Amino acid sequence: MISIAVLGYGTVGSGVVEVIEKNKEVIDKRAGKKIRVKYILDLRDFPGDPYADRVVHDINVILQDPEVTIICETMGGNEPAFTYSMQALKAGKSVCTSNKELVANHGAELIRTAKENYCNYLFEASVGGGIPIIRPLNAALTAERIELISGILNGTTNYILTRMDQEGCDFETSLKEAQEKGYAERNPEADVEGYDACRKIAILASLMTGKTVRYEEIYTEGITKITREDFLYAHKMNLFIKLLASVREADGGYYAMVAPFLIGENSPLHSVNDVFNAIFIRGNTLGDSMYYGRGAGKLPTASAVVSDVIDCAKHGRTHIVCLWDEEKLPLCSIDGAYRRFFVRAQKGCEAKARELFGEIELVDAGLENEFGFVTAALTEKEFAEKSGQLSGFISRIRVEEA
Ligand code: NDP
Ligand code: HSE
Repeated sequence: MISIAVLGYGTVGSGVVEVIEKNKEVIDKRAGKKIRVKYILDLRDFPGDPYADRVVHDINVILQDPEVTIICETMGGNEPAFTYSMQALKAGKSVCTSNKELVANHGAELIRTAKENYCNYLFEASVGGGIPIIRPLNAALTAERIELISGILNGTTNYILTRMDQEGCDFETSLKEAQEKGYAERNPEADVEGYDACRKIAILASLMTGKTVRYEEIYTEGITKITREDFLYAHKMNLFIKLLASVREADGGYYAMVAPFLIGENSPLHSVNDVFNAIFIRGNTLGDSMYYGRGAGKLPTASAVVSDVIDCAKHGRTHIVCLWDEEKLPLCSIDGAYRRFFVRAQKGCEAKARELFGEIELVDAGLENEFGFVTAALTEKEFAEKSGQLSGFISRIRVEEA
């Protein structure tokens, strides 16, 4: 029998316990041993909960128990999650986590520590919730030189954008619903400002390159400036607004960014709605592939954590190779990235828009005092310079090229 401990009995942690109970027959069979939850660490007690007797408040109870060989870290945040994870790994206990903030910050160091101590640090749930994406990158796609990863990596924002687009709901109401469904981060600013998607693409970029891509270096914009008017224009153009996170190899370097984009029906991501996420990967010999599923939520995320527990159980004290070095990979500036932009501007500055941007496609969404237009392709730097000279400029959204 393998005894495990769950750190943090919130949305994901309670899901881990539930998945292990619900699917115990298949889990035990696939792990080759019975897997049982011996401890749950949390700040609170849970009177009346069937697992209330396993709740402890001192990490040392878990660290000092030789029976516990696998720990699920589902507390979130950097500390004390980092300290507890390091202590566990140094004691030879494998750690399985959903905590992308910690993985993005210290992934390479935690993996090295696991390797040095003949155990594992696994993080399938840290990107895309229940979607298998870390294991494919570390196993099935290792023959590929990956040229592009582009995805919808945040369930909360995709839920909000879908509700605004399809139901005309407002931003605040949609965010509240996402929070009630357990999708959002404790501080939902991380979702709506794009920080969560940024950490996730940093993790994927690190696995793609084998080096550490620091999330602080990734240009990031969230969805807080997207309005109902933007959707009126998008409908008029038959386009969809999605928060995309991407990393691309080009010109001998890597470009990464997180921002809302207008995408067309020819994009495989256009129909990814609600809490669903999808990750599009282009390999040099494989070509295009895509991974789709629920990007957040209790049971889908817990399922991914438990799949890591099973992997740890199967491997015992054998380290599963994960190539992610602590050496930092500098990213290229996005200034030179080349694309079209959709712009909203006040009526009366059409001539100036043409003078600055040359040929433009006008879009009339029936709004009284403004109009929209799409530019020809130009660099981010040129766009910033030109739009700064357009006095009636209201806002812009990037247009994804298929
Ligand atoms: P919750 O806030 O629901 O759960 C976290 C739990 O950990 C809470 O019960 C909290 O207690 C407890 N906790 C916090 N600090 C400590 C501590 N120092 N010692 C013991 N217990 C502690 O968060 P989620 O379950 O939603 O998320 C957990 C992690 O998983 C996060 O990193 C999140 O980003 C990630 N994640 C979440 C997904 C989701 O859909 N929710 C999907 C994928 C990843 P208390 O409430 O008393 O503070
Ligand atoms: N808050 C995150 C999301 C949880 O909405 O995608 C899953 O990582």
